[in-house]
Amino acid sequence: MNKSTDQIRQAFLEFFHSKGHQVVESSSLVPDNDTTLLFTNAGMNQFKDVFLGLDQRSYHSAATSQRCVRAGGKHNDLEKVGYTSRHHTFFEMLGNFSFGDYFKHNAISFAWELLTSEQWFNVPKDKLLVTVYANNDDETYNIWAREIGVPIERIIRIGDNKGSPYASDNFWQMGDTGPCGPCSEIFYDHGEHLSGGLPGTPEENGDRYIEIWNLVFMQFNRQADGTLLPLPKPSVDTGMGLERIAAVLQHVNSNYDIDLFKRLIAAAAQATDARNPHSKSLRVIADHIRACAFLISDGVIPSNEGRGYVLRRIIRRAIRHGKMLGASDTFFYKLTEPLIEVMGSAASPLQRQRIMIEQVLHAEEAQFARTLEHGLKLLEAHLNKLTSKTLDGETAFHLYDTYGFPLDLTIDICEERNRGVDTAGFEHAMAAQRNRARQSSSFGADHHSILHIEEKTYFYGYEKLMHQAVVTALFLNDQPREVIVQGDKAVVVLDATPFYGTAGGQVGDRGQLKSIDGLFEVLDTQKYSKALGHFGQLSYGELRLGAKVTAQVDRERREQICLNHSATHLLHTALIRVLGEHVRQKGSLVNDQYLRFDFSHNMAMTSAQIRRVEEIVNQQIRYNLSIQTDLMALEDARNIGAIALFGEKYEEKVRMVRIGAFSTELCGGTHARRTGDLGLFSITSESGRAAGIRRVEAITGEKALRVVQRQRDLMHLISQLVKGDSHTLPDKVLALQVRCRQLDKDLQKLKNLQVAQQSTLIGHNARDINGVKVLVRQVKNVESKMLRRIVNDLKNQLGSAVIILVTVAEGKVSLIASVASDLTDRIKADDIVTYVTKKIGGKGGGRSDLAQGGGSDTAALPVAMACLNEMLIEKL
Ligand code: SER
Repeated sequence: MNKSTDQIRQAFLEFFHSKGHQVVESSSLVPDNDTTLLFTNAGMNQFKDVFLGLDQRSYHSAATSQRCVRAGGKHNDLEKVGYTSRHHTFFEMLGNFSFGDYFKHNAISFAWELLTSEQWFNVPKDKLLVTVYANNDDETYNIWAREIGVPIERIIRIGDNKGSPYASDNFWQMGDTGPCGPCSEIFYDHGEHLSGGLPGTPEENGDRYIEIWNLVFMQFNRQADGTLLPLPKPSVDTGMGLERIAAVLQHVNSNYDIDLFKRLIAAAAQATDARNPHSKSLRVIADHIRACAFLISDGVIPSNEGRGYVLRRIIRRAIRHGKMLGASDTFFYKLTEPLIEVMGSAASPLQRQRIMIEQVLHAEEAQFARTLEHGLKLLEAHLNKLTSKTLDGETAFHLYDTYGFPLDLTIDICEERNRGVDTAGFEHAMAAQRNRARQSSSFGADHHSILHIEEKTYFYGYEKLMHQAVVTALFLNDQPREVIVQGDKAVVVLDATPFYGTAGGQVGDRGQLKSIDGLFEVLDTQKYSKALGHFGQLSYGELRLGAKVTAQVDRERREQICLNHSATHLLHTALIRVLGEHVRQKGSLVNDQYLRFDFSHNMAMTSAQIRRVEEIVNQQIRYNLSIQTDLMALEDARNIGAIALFGEKYEEKVRMVRIGAFSTELCGGTHARRTGDLGLFSITSESGRAAGIRRVEAITGEKALRVVQRQRDLMHLISQLVKGDSHTLPDKVLALQVRCRQLDKDLQKLKNLQVAQQSTLIGHNARDINGVKVLVRQVKNVESKMLRRIVNDLKNQLGSAVIILVTVAEGKVSLIASVASDLTDRIKADDIVTYVTKKIGGKGGGRSDLAQGGGSDTAALPVAMACLNEMLIEKL
């Protein structure tokens, strides 16, 4: 009987376990400590620093089934997904790794044994072929040919076939920098009945010969300038796509025909009410739910930038395909449950975050429906007036930037109308915006992503805040330097430091580095692999490599940070107690001013819940519990029940922070000594951050006390102003409101009375010009908006008449003219207003029966009025 995908995964790990490999859990899809990588895209990512010799493990060989996403970044397959038999956004990579333990010989014989031995995968040997790097890798060729006995016609050598040195199907690199090396790939022949040529031929992308396993012989560390430096020890990194090997072992050609996808496609058909079970759109959806659910479970939230944007694009692509299938309602989130079922032993991250995943997907789907509507309207309008064959890049970018309309969606819609999109123009507009953003952030730029520091810094900051150290590296504008001088903004690396580098939400320390020759003000501290970089400015003198410095952390600031960090742990546990076990940390910020904590919870906290959380935390503060830190093995910490942040990478030795018996968390941060040090804890805000994620901000210590005092002072002041005290304050304020409303009413009445009186008075001044009643008056102390009401009153009073009122206030003339409708053929109100306002340096307008205007030349008013008089006589 065929093995299920789940069984194949287990068999792989068992095989390598039996060969002395440590079975290691898949790491998160969000790479830890690697800003060069968007998503985990290969099994070796979590071991990158081990290959580079920057990190050590207790084992020398390992095996994993690693979840990977290749969408965005260097290995990007998004557009192909659904339309080929074996491209995925998400897939699992089975891999075995040697860190200087074994090299080519064992890597090849392990792979061959697992694939061909009857006891394991039992793949017929004559169905397999291999490729070898053509440049200087005879060793691999000979192992295949002589030791394994693969017939030479099934060993293919491939050189640099991609246009530059080391650019080859048989030279693997993780990214533009990092570990890399020649590789040997194993292919499976799916049979003559399928089209496709041998690897290395122009027809290689057919369905016949499929690469199933890549054995990489890691030997180099590629630098940004393209040079290759040797790794400390030759190593091995292999990768076999689980879905591909499942296709081989289940005797199907397309990955979408394996057990896992068949079940998922059926679930997608049900959720979308699709009629055609073979539609490519079903494959797209079945593929995309895997990437989306796992990304969300690893903490990615849809957004308009970076990882969140890639996630958003995948979700939206899936939804669009659902709509193409005829799904009438939200459907995508419904696939979470079936996905958990098909993922078998790899489903645990999804199980833990199921509710969260469903909520995020549902919210995104609902929001996308609105985006589609807005963006479509705009795009329609543009397409309707488009005279050329291509939509310009600026418009496509505007749709993307303002309406969150993904470029591929714009392209799709334009294609339906036989129009192209100027994608180069789009990229140009995008780059221009990025540039603007970069220019607006100067000193605080993310140096972390640029600098690669090999040095190691010992961190003393748990025990002390001052330390004598030696400068081991200096960087100015990201370039290594021997010396820096006064005014230079630079990064200083020391052999040892008490400065904490930004990590785990806690901000980096500030302070000073003093040498005999200079003073360096540290504004931030960051981690760079094993080094800590002090970022700041040399206030005076100079600083050289090798100089001795006294590193002094800003003590007061650090102490505030410690209080806020310990408070974060108390808050975390209190939230779990008040809201439930589903609460998971989703991000945090701890600085000297406040703490911010994001967590999974699907509705706003009530004020009672907020109060309860505050009470619990403050109670622990009053108990004055001791805060203890211990180094221990990860396994032991888990057994004690420490809260480990899911998706975080922990070393094998972890630091456990215990606050009495109340809270136990794995944490590398710095903490207060006792909870009593916190003094007071106060929540300042609770808000929603994204679907299913809430954010709490809080303060501690003196800061919290000051806020309480400020509020009390404010209350005192208000009480004095309303002549009340804290007990009577609400009643007093209420009474004031009632009184204000009453006064407003009274004032309104008075104004009405004033209008009536004014109109009666003015009305008597109407005169007769050629049988027409005409009233021209300058009125005093009347706001311009009252003029209209008076005119209305006068109209009622005088009947068929021409009424013109003028008022002067604050150096401005306001004018209103009303002409009864039976007189408008003789004279028009808007003509009157235009006539007068021209003369007083202003303008106005309106209808023939009513018009208004104004001007600022008050001195010209008497003449204007005299002229008006003449005009009236002439026209009437
Ligand atoms: N890193 C190699 C790959 O991704 C082998 O694991 O193909």
